[in-house]
Amino acid sequence: SYNGLALTPPMGFNDWAKYECNINENLFMKTGDALVAKGLSKLGYTYVNVDDCWMQKTRDANGNLQVDTALFPQGMKALGDHLHAEGLKFGIYEDAGTNTCQGAAGSYGHFDQDARQYASWGVDYLKLDYCYQPLSDYPGASAADVAKIVYTQASEALRKTGRPIVFSESAPAYYFDNSTFWQIMKWIGNEGNLWRVGDDIADNWQSVLTNYEQTSMLRLAPYAGPGHWNDADMLEVGNPGLSLTEQQSQFTLWSELASPLLLSTDVGALSGAPLAIVSNKDVIAVDQDKLGAQGTVVQTGGGYDVLSKPLANGDRAVVLFNKNDRAQTITTHATTVGFSGTGNVTLKDLVSKKVTTSTGTIAATVPPHGTVIYRVSPTHGASAPSATVLSVTQRS
Ligand code: DGJ
Repeated sequence: SYNGLALTPPMGFNDWAKYECNINENLFMKTGDALVAKGLSKLGYTYVNVDDCWMQKTRDANGNLQVDTALFPQGMKALGDHLHAEGLKFGIYEDAGTNTCQGAAGSYGHFDQDARQYASWGVDYLKLDYCYQPLSDYPGASAADVAKIVYTQASEALRKTGRPIVFSESAPAYYFDNSTFWQIMKWIGNEGNLWRVGDDIADNWQSVLTNYEQTSMLRLAPYAGPGHWNDADMLEVGNPGLSLTEQQSQFTLWSELASPLLLSTDVGALSGAPLAIVSNKDVIAVDQDKLGAQGTVVQTGGGYDVLSKPLANGDRAVVLFNKNDRAQTITTHATTVGFSGTGNVTLKDLVSKKVTTSTGTIAATVPPHGTVIYRVSPTHGASAPSATVLSVTQRS
């Protein structure tokens, strides 16, 4: 990747979906404490990311960003220090335009100065949003060109600090699937580590479905790989708007799509079934698989999708996803999900942990809005998996 970081999708926390501007330093310190106390940091949830609203509307006389000291009385360095002391990483938010989406000071025109500021605070991750785009400063340039100019300036600024900082770019989300989007996609992975693809996630099933459909678009899969990821937005697991089945589905689908896994819930209150969902090592291993392939839809039918994700050891992570409002049996075959030949396969259900063998049929009865995720392995003596890993694009 462009900076050697995020060789697997970032995991951790971002406040926005749950808290919007209702944030303060205590929330992030307590979230860090809870990630450690609940064993989540050990599972990989290490980034604690502050979204919009941490800064003031104006810069100081030297052009520096000013922290909202009512919300962060100890300042950003103290927050970073607190997180680093517990082995966590510190993420922050800015906007590549003149203002953040909530109207605070944007980073446009100040990328170098701001990057030095982040580095001095110990920032490990920057999400750079794209409200208030400076289009009028570039008459005659296309929107895609302007995005390239400002995001390249920002990525250079981060690089020049010498500090390893994961870079999350929001530009594509502002042009979902139009011609500007695909022009932006040509360079996005060379300038940053992950990028928002589509809509802001919300705490309801329709929103999860929308972001799933956007991110699982076949044309996007080749852009994912070690160091560069399509971002389907935050996880709503733990929040009241989704049933437990739907929460499991979001977690399963985001993992299958090699999306970042950023919790946006009250981590201190996370317990029981939702905590178990996000703590499932087998599903996390699918997201974090070092091959870095994004799962793709290999079969669709009446209200269902079958996805397959090639894994580094030759296994496939296969998801049977029932989008319908009633249960249905979903049936696919080993050859459909990428195995050649007619040998037996072993299926491990990564949620129930049940292991079965099959001569090729892969099937399950799936509840409404539910998913079943199998890790599928060729049984000893059977045919090797096909070597086609079409969805991986290598970048230097
Ligand atoms: C739009 C982004 O898509 C959200 O994730 C969040 O960062 C808000 N802006 C903050 O204003």
